Amino acid sequence: MWGSLRLLSRIRVRNGLPEASTGRPLINLRCRSMHSSQRDNPATQTDVAGTQRALSSVAAAVAATAGSANANIPLPDLPYDYDALEPVISAEIMRLHHTKHHQGYVKNLNNALNTLHSTDHVPTLISLQPSLVFNGGGHLNHSILWTNLAPVGKGGGELPDKDSPLLKAIESDFGSLNNFMSLMNTAAAGIQGSGWAWLALNRNLRRLDIITRSNQDPVVGAYTPLLGIDVWEHAYYLQYKSDRAAYLKNIWQVIHWKDVMKRYEAAIA
Ligand SMILES: [Fe+2]
Repeated sequence: MWGSLRLLSRIRVRNGLPEASTGRPLINLRCRSMHSSQRDNPATQTDVAGTQRALSSVAAAVAATAGSANANIPLPDLPYDYDALEPVISAEIMRLHHTKHHQGYVKNLNNALNTLHSTDHVPTLISLQPSLVFNGGGHLNHSILWTNLAPVGKGGGELPDKDSPLLKAIESDFGSLNNFMSLMNTAAAGIQGSGWAWLALNRNLRRLDIITRSNQDPVVGAYTPLLGIDVWEHAYYLQYKSDRAAYLKNIWQVIHWKDVMKRYEAAIA
């Protein structure tokens, strides 16, 4: 029963291979004392440890990007003006996306982390799981997204360097950059409802994969996210209405490949 509560139960299978996790928290959450009845019950001790490991996996992923798993994680600044990605993405979308949506994930994540660090009540800890996944994922995903994008003339749309490890890996794993972009758009277009398409490094297999995630499910475990495309309607609907395909076609004009190259080189180092 408790296994179903683990965050990593959301693991999907791709090409018959599970997206494995290390199953080990990258950071240690503050230890909490257990009630005597819990200490006396080995099964409960395992349950508590498992639940805390599960909760800590998202907290660890947050820490890796935000620098801290404690509350008061700030909303990161956008590295360009709200209108800098026009005409591909309107200023209105960017302002709402950053100040309302991302800000909301940060606020709710901080609330969840405050609770996580202030209680040893196991049912309360368990109840935090959906909020940590959704809001922690929302914060992680958007923090990557903002740097994955750049204005035209400031890196946006400039293709990866010819001799870069990233381009060589893309050509090896997808045939060509154009083929990769086409496959990525197909994956993003096929997401039902809200979600993300990602170019990610599968560290176990040392290869690049295109993966999708529903809602704000974060890319954790054996994958390192490199490039994300947000297909939540809040990312495009005000401008593109129901034409997600047009949004996906245009987004490549502002993809910041230098950032993707940097992420890839750090991931394989
Ligand atoms: Fe978004």
